[in-house]
Amino acid sequence: MDYLLIEGARPLKGDIEISGSKNAALPMLMASILSKKISHFTNLPRLSDVDFALKILIELGGNVRMIREHNSISAYIEFDDKANCVAPYELVRKMRASISVLGPLLARYGKVKVSLPGGCAIGARPVDLHIMVMEKLGAKITIEDGYIIAEADKLKANDIVFPFVSVGATQAAMMTACVADGTSVIRNVSMEPETVELGNMLNSMGAKIEGLGTETLTIKGLNSKTLPGSDNPIHILPDRIEAGTYAIAAAATRGKVNIKNSIPKHLDILLYNLKESGVNILQTDNGFTVDATRLDNIKPIDIVTAPYPGFPTDLQAQWMAYMSVACGSCTITEKIFENRFIHIGELFRLGARVKHSANVATVYGVKKLTGAPVMATDLRASASLIIGALIAEGTTEIHRVYHIDRGYERIDEKLKNVGAKVTRLREV
Ligand code: EPZ
Repeated sequence: MDYLLIEGARPLKGDIEISGSKNAALPMLMASILSKKISHFTNLPRLSDVDFALKILIELGGNVRMIREHNSISAYIEFDDKANCVAPYELVRKMRASISVLGPLLARYGKVKVSLPGGCAIGARPVDLHIMVMEKLGAKITIEDGYIIAEADKLKANDIVFPFVSVGATQAAMMTACVADGTSVIRNVSMEPETVELGNMLNSMGAKIEGLGTETLTIKGLNSKTLPGSDNPIHILPDRIEAGTYAIAAAATRGKVNIKNSIPKHLDILLYNLKESGVNILQTDNGFTVDATRLDNIKPIDIVTAPYPGFPTDLQAQWMAYMSVACGSCTITEKIFENRFIHIGELFRLGARVKHSANVATVYGVKKLTGAPVMATDLRASASLIIGALIAEGTTEIHRVYHIDRGYERIDEKLKNVGAKVTRLREV
């Protein structure tokens, strides 16, 4: 297994090009199951999760052609009227986002068997809301041997109110209601840019979804098994979590980094908090610049994670690493997942001082961090350890770096390009 060696305490300086969004690409790739035409994707990020999603689509009977470009992947995906409508446990457990094949397979083929994904490091992550959506739209659901078996000759529109915002369940509702018979009104939905992008793609394929980016969606179902499809390429939008991670790394190392090919509007709350902590943020024509070169004392800033446009839970661990060297203490409240403080134990090893009870962590800023061997446990916890290592004096080894490769394309290369001393090594 690979591990990273990082010599820290060096300010990051230069340009970082942001890749396509993992969390937009995954549901959009699965939505191609609904298309009568070949779906052509561009700017897919070169990530293990994207490779895995394409593998799952092949396993389900999709005809997939992939073209590796230098900084991204293009893919052509086609489904016809027969498919293997079983998503097995050995695939789904490796990537939870595979659950999003449930809706499109049910809509197009009328019967589907998808493994329950099981939990992950950050929480139990049930899929009860996904199941609720399918039942509301007329499916018969049985749970057998750890599998969801869904059947529906015809999907019927319905009104749905989510008890709380769920990105995945909102996306499942969109990918199913868009071909149901009648108009569905779905409330308390995800407004995340990735969800809006999925809706835009479905509309380009012939769906009729209104209200994208608001709390309520009105979906006029086509009463068919498929969407007509689109002749235009589907371009994956820039990854706001990748951009936010590098913005925090630039601030934490008191550097100056141009975050290129990104959409500042998708990071409003993070950029606001970075400015509050003492960093200069300048909008540029295709992204923004983080300038912390004149930042003496980092001001501690409390955060509470929330659905978009609130503070993204996927940047919570990275913010904690940054606040670990602030001048004073602050609180970090995690309101989305029940177990998303795993990174605290590893940040301790770098000298951070954090106490937490339930979903509130208090970070007591220290003067400096010191390098040490640490272990990545999940995707965003790994990102926080990388930021900790970039801050720390001395050398840090980050093991189990496969977690980071799921969501950050060529992270060592991108960091080296802005002056970081990062080496990727292989454990013998
Ligand atoms: C998406 O996961 C993202 N993943 C996550 O990013 C992100 O953290 C999360 O949204 C929140 O923004 C992808 O887009 C592939 P949810 P998702 O349904 O859809 C509970 C990363 O690091 N819930 O919005 O699974 C759930 O347990 C990943 O890139 C139910 O109880 O998240 C959580 O507490 C991590 N029942 C809360 O809702 C359900 O049926 C929000 O989860 C579904 C969810």
